[in-house]
Amino acid sequence: MSARPSVGWIGTGRMGYEMAARLARGGADVLAWNRTRAKAEPLAQYGATVADRLSELAGCDIVFCMVAAWKDVKQVMGELLAEKARPRMVIECSSISLEGSAELRAMLAQRGIDYLAAPVSGNAKVIKAGKLSFVCSGPRKSFNEALPLLNMIAPAASYVGEGELARIVKICHNVFLGVVIQSLAEITVLAQKAGVPRHAFLEFLNQSVMGSMFTRYKTPAFVNLDFKVTFTPELLRKDLDLGLDAGRRLEVPMPLAAATRELVQAMMDRGMREQDFAALLLQQAQASGIELQPENVEVKDGLS
Ligand SMILES: NC(=O)c1ccc[n+]([C@@H]2O[C@H](COP(=O)([O-])OP(=O)(O)OC[C@H]3O[C@@H](n4cnc5c(N)ncnc54)[C@H](OP(=O)(O)O)[C@@H]3O)[C@@H](O)[C@H]2O)c1
Repeated sequence: MSARPSVGWIGTGRMGYEMAARLARGGADVLAWNRTRAKAEPLAQYGATVADRLSELAGCDIVFCMVAAWKDVKQVMGELLAEKARPRMVIECSSISLEGSAELRAMLAQRGIDYLAAPVSGNAKVIKAGKLSFVCSGPRKSFNEALPLLNMIAPAASYVGEGELARIVKICHNVFLGVVIQSLAEITVLAQKAGVPRHAFLEFLNQSVMGSMFTRYKTPAFVNLDFKVTFTPELLRKDLDLGLDAGRRLEVPMPLAAATRELVQAMMDRGMREQDFAALLLQQAQASGIELQPENVEVKDGLS
């Protein structure tokens, strides 16, 4: 591979845009495509080129993909692979099933294209703060080749083995994400109903052994009730379903994940689809018979 490989980037949604921006700002030669072109256009300010057609990316050395679910990955990859030109390597970062990932690996192997499964942990703000992490699987050689590009996007990239192993790691991670946010909502409402302001409760929790980067960066939303979407309830439901499917197949009971899945479904049924998944807090407050008000207290998210 040349010292400065040409990089195709498919999908500039909330995550893909920030990831591609870091690559372009880091000096990579990026050709980006998004179904809704306008979302990719601001990447030009960092030196990326915006493609009119997905097929233009087929001639790149390496193509990243960050869309939504497996059906979307299959669609864009099908279109890319219909071209005569083909990339040397595909790095797929969306959160998808092991089965989908294996099907993609077979599609790519037939055409002699290397494939790295590389889902991520962190939201768009985490990417901007330079704190994203990748979990990768596939041939070790592909990981080593991809590492300089991965590190332009994220400081941490863990290699967990061959095949689709990164997919199950990411699924486990997001099941935990769902269970933790629901648990955080329950205890925050419990403390508040007993008389503790949310900012005081969360300040303590965040500095305790139970605090994490995640509880810290969700604290401003819980305190001031700003639920501008970072990750949709629909995408979280997808990941909980992926976890529950894997649990059924491997005969691993997952009662907490199952309950959380239904609570995410319930928030969607109430019309809370375009709010952040952390709005589970509002649903919990309603179920507890209290109405939350923004506390209007400035709290740090631990990222900046
Ligand atoms: N948000 C997070 O915190 C987070 C964190 C880690 C992982 N993830 C995972 O990362 C992936 C992207 O999440 P996101 O939050 O960035 O989602 P998003 O903002 O909804 O973006 C989705 C992207 O996929 C494109 N897309 C969807 N279906 C497509 C199709 N059939 N053909 C072509 N393009 C299609 C969208 O294009 P348009 O712009 O045209 O709609 C958009 O660029 C998901 O797998 C998600 O589970 C998200």
